[in-house]
Amino acid sequence: MSLITWTAEQFGTDVDFADEEHKTLFGKLNKLHELATDGADRSATGAQLDDLIAYVVEHFTHEESEMQSKGFDGYASHKSEHDALVGTGAELQKKFHAGEAEVTEEFGQLVKTWLENHIPKFDMAYSGALNG
Ligand code: FEO
Repeated sequence: MSLITWTAEQFGTDVDFADEEHKTLFGKLNKLHELATDGADRSATGAQLDDLIAYVVEHFTHEESEMQSKGFDGYASHKSEHDALVGTGAELQKKFHAGEAEVTEEFGQLVKTWLENHIPKFDMAYSGALNG
């Protein structure tokens, strides 16, 4: 079973690019979780971790540039949230490739919980500004 499933009710922002990118992000997270918990080859898990983190950075950068171009006043607090997750991901990535950590069930749950909080609370808040 997938770790996280995108539904409009729970995650829809009314901003097309964000919804599409969130769906892609969820797919990459689900794949990583599956590899990590099914005992896949370590190199495959590492490649998926790198792919997920690169995509998260790309998505956050996209949102941040859209918020800035619209002069959205929630930009700073929103960016702090992004930076915190990227920091957590980068730390795991560094340790994983140094052979000092593994991708765990807990990491998948942490990212899932973060998304379940962040998208409704922060991403939905920019809907009016980005569509305006
Ligand atoms: Fe879609 Fe603010 O992350």
